[in-house]
Parts: sequence; C-alpha cells; structure tokens
Amino acid sequence: MTLYKNIVILTGAGISAESGLDTFRDKGGIWEKYDLMDLATPEAFARNPELVHEFYNIRRAEVKKVDPNAAHYALARLEEKHQGNVAVITQNVDSLHERAGSRNLMHMHGELNKARCMTCGHVNIWLDDLLRTSICPSCNKSGNLRPHIVWFGEIPFHIEEINDRLSACDLFISIGTSGSVYPAAGFVQAAQNFGAETVELNLEPSDGTNLFSIAHYGKATEIVPEYVATLIRQD
Ligand code: APR
Repeated sequence: MTLYKNIVILTGAGISAESGLDTFRDKGGIWEKYDLMDLATPEAFARNPELVHEFYNIRRAEVKKVDPNAAHYALARLEEKHQGNVAVITQNVDSLHERAGSRNLMHMHGELNKARCMTCGHVNIWLDDLLRTSICPSCNKSGNLRPHIVWFGEIPFHIEEINDRLSACDLFISIGTSGSVYPAAGFVQAAQNFGAETVELNLEPSDGTNLFSIAHYGKATEIVPEYVATLIRQD
C-alpha cells in the first residue's frame, strides 16, 4: 500500500539546467543578461514586439538542440510506476518534461512551442520563429500572434486545478526553483497547510527552504533519480 496517494511536483529552471538551458537567477542566468522589463511583460511586447519575438525565438531554437535529462526521466518513471497520482506543475516553458514522458503535466507559465492569436484567441503549436508578420493558422489574420507565455503581471495558467491538487496532496516536491516568483513560491505553504509532507530537491537552499520538512541538495540529475527510487521502493 503506497505511502503517498497524491504527489504534486513543482519544477523550475534548475531541472533543465543540466540539459543545457539557462536558469534565470543563477550566475550568468537569463535575468543577468537581459532586462525582464524589456522582454517579459505585456508592456514590453506592445512597445517592441520584434525584440520580444526575437528573445523567445532564440530560446525556442535552443530547446530544439537539447534533450531531457535523468531528472525529467525520473519524474516520468514515477508517474508510470507510482500506484497513486503524480502531477507535475512546471514553471518551465521548455518541452523537456513531455519529451521525457510526463503526461500529467501543467505548464503554469506557458510554453515556448505555442503561439496565441490575439484576434481569435486560438493557441497554435509553433515550432519555428514567430514574427510580427506571422499568420494565425486558425483565423488567417496576421500581425496578432504572441508567444503563449505568461509574462510578469499576467495570471498563470491552471491556477484553479493547481489549487485543487495542492489541497488534496500528501506529498509536495519542489525541484530546481529559487522559490522567488509567486504564486509558485507559495505552493509549499499551501501544501503544508493541507498537511502534506514537503520536500525540496535543489542545487542550494531556495528562498523558501525553511518551509520544507525534507531537503536534499545537489544536481537534479543525481538527487532526483535517487529520491524517485526511494519513493518507488516504498510502493
Ligand atoms: N540541479 C538542481 N537545481 C539547480 C541546478 C541543477 N543542476 N542548477 C540550478 N539549480 C537551482 C538554482 O539553485 C535555483 O534555486 O534552480 C533554481 C533556479 O532558479 P531560477 O533561475 O529563479 O528559476 P525559476 O525558479 O524556475 O524561476 C521562476 O521566474 O523569471 C521567471 O517565469 C520565469 O518560470 C520562471 C520563474
């Protein structure tokens, strides 16, 4: 009989770091190289859509060149083998979790490989460069496609479902996130309030480290497969 019926896992950029994708706040991270106010807000997109498109086009092209790592595969294995529910909530906009086999997955900050039409609202799969002149495949209008990314000041996706899952979870695992951006940074407190065991798997203590009852520090490709193996052994 499994120890945990409902496992909720939150991931951040740190789980994709060893695949070769930059994190945001580590040394040399994205927000050290670029000003988020010029690239990751609705105002920035209105001011200079070409610059914002270029930023996401570069990152979309980068994701094509990298592969999921052992940490992504370990979470997919847990979802496959665990007798209870396993849900991954990722802040990441890369497609590495799904490419590793995770199915019960929510991209709360959107996805690089999707473009949303501001005319008809349709969300289209988009694997190449997105330009101001790009035409929406659904309504055939051009000039109104935007990255399907949640920018600062916008509401993250799947919040209702996320809150439902947090209220029913008995194990909350946070992996590769600095715990500095809300609402994701508040999930551990919510899970704890509902009585869940809380575990942090990170390279170093995050901003919310004292909210976790268990913590393992190290590289995700080492500590995540190890921790997943202990969970599967407990089943
Ligand atoms: N293994 C495990 N953890 C790692 C590794 C690694 N190899 N490399 C880095 N980390 C950890 C860092 O210690 C840090 O705590 O991953 C975390 C990355 O933190 P951030 O760069 O802040 O990324 P994240 O927490 O995902 O940012 C949240 O902020 O800018 C927004 O929308 C963006 O989704 C992003 C959100």
